[in-house]
Amino acid sequence: MPLLAIASGKGGVGKTTCAVNLCAAFRELGHDPVLLDADSGGDATWLLGFRSADTALDALRGRKDLTAAVSSTTEGIRLLASSPRLIELETADVNVLAERLRRLSDRDLIVADLPPGFSPAVTRAAILAATTIVVPIIPEPLAERHARHVLDAAEALGSTATILALAVMVDKRRVLTGAVLATAQEGGLDLVGAIPRSVAVPESGNEGVSVLRYAPASAAAAAYRDVAPRILQTLTALVR
Ligand SMILES: Nc1ncnc2c1ncn2[C@@H]1O[C@H](COP(=O)(O)OP(=O)(O)O)[C@@H](O)[C@H]1O
Ligand SMILES: [Mg+2]
Repeated sequence: MPLLAIASGKGGVGKTTCAVNLCAAFRELGHDPVLLDADSGGDATWLLGFRSADTALDALRGRKDLTAAVSSTTEGIRLLASSPRLIELETADVNVLAERLRRLSDRDLIVADLPPGFSPAVTRAAILAATTIVVPIIPEPLAERHARHVLDAAEALGSTATILALAVMVDKRRVLTGAVLATAQEGGLDLVGAIPRSVAVPESGNEGVSVLRYAPASAAAAAYRDVAPRILQTLTALVR
């Protein structure tokens, strides 16, 4: 049941970017993940060059099997695409959704890009069913608080997931960066790595591909490659 959920209490912290680029990095390592766009805003769907489709909704409703629901993107990353209709699941039963997610991740590595916050049922279900949760943190004063909210939500839901913090948009020239990351670690957050701030990241999104494809030699691509095996390690026992 390898389900990787990318979660945060906050929007704009790099969740979707992490989901897309981790999928690209896992593919380079020989895996074939399915990106589940669980955000009705559909940013991951858009970033992979798709517009809108109900494949994530169908899969979460248990209506189609995974092969029927998956669309292949330009880069080859398999995608369960989002549409605004995903809000229909907002009040669905968390345990039922968690069971569907477990079933989806029975044979495939699923990477779920979640909306911000913990209200949508699909977010709580993904936190509950996840094998591993990656929490992107921007080196900003409130980052540690926002990461802690994920730990609290996971505990409240009874999730057994391994929770890893991933520093993103890191600017080593800023004194604050070191201070925030040190605080995060002192607070017991398991920091799995750091992705530098790079203009290649938003540029890659414009092209509908990952930064690993768009700028393979960039520092950001290298950082995603560096961190991917460590994240996989927490999932691999389960990845075939
Ligand atoms: N390493 C990075 N360098 C530069 N910009 C980044 C980086 N990671 C994310 N971003 C930018 O930050 C913004 C928010 O990222 P996004 O992944 O959409 O966050 P979320 O899914 O948490 O709302 C986007 O404009 C994205 O391009
Ligand atoms: Mg997002």
